[in-house]
Amino acid sequence: MTRNSLSDTLKQAWACMEAGAAPGKSRFSMVQVANIGEDGRPRARTVVIRNVDVVARTLAFHTDQRSPKVKELQSDPRVTVVGYDMEAGQQVRIEGAARLHIGDSEALAAWGESRAEARVGYRRQNAPGEALADPKMGDAQADALTPADQTLGFDRFCWVVIQATKVDWLSLGSPDHRRSIHRWNGADWDSSWVAP
Ligand SMILES: Cc1cc2nc3c(=O)[nH]c(=O)nc-3n(C[C@H](O)[C@H](O)[C@H](O)COP(=O)(O)O)c2cc1C
Repeated sequence: MTRNSLSDTLKQAWACMEAGAAPGKSRFSMVQVANIGEDGRPRARTVVIRNVDVVARTLAFHTDQRSPKVKELQSDPRVTVVGYDMEAGQQVRIEGAARLHIGDSEALAAWGESRAEARVGYRRQNAPGEALADPKMGDAQADALTPADQTLGFDRFCWVVIQATKVDWLSLGSPDHRRSIHRWNGADWDSSWVAP
């Protein structure tokens, strides 16, 4: 892997995302996802990457279908994902479109692979962003971690699959930085160097 080879930099960018989705901690386990709100404002938030498929050019996270981002992505699926590894000095930005899976077979498969702790959030009565008179009102119930019904919360579960159309890799380094851009042309990636 060299930072002077365009194809290596694309591989590196995807390797960062794959490390993020793999078990254990990585700087890319949590990334920021930005989209456009219904009022035209930029919106961004941190999410946990749960799956990466390099061949399909996808990365996925899950969310509560009642959260504002779901409605926003239904009206405009364009997203940008950004992550940064401080130790390696590497930033990866991915542009693409989000596909939302609610109650379908892909959502069910993702639900099946999710851990009990990750499912707890989907058993809360209150929708994300809903006003609470008391902050404790939103706490998960004591039995929420291991409910008898393992499908409890699935109706609120949304599996968001982002398919990439552009990858922007930036490596900070000495004596100089490197930056490459990779655009999906429908059949392959068109790669080029750009000034950092
Ligand atoms: C470390 C961390 C990980 C998070 N992971 C997720 C996630 O995987 N999915 C999610 O919907 N929200 C996640 N959140 C919460 C979001 O950042 C955000 O607050 C919430 O989804 C509401 O976003 P929205 O109002 O834009 O819909 C995470 C927050 C933090 C700090």
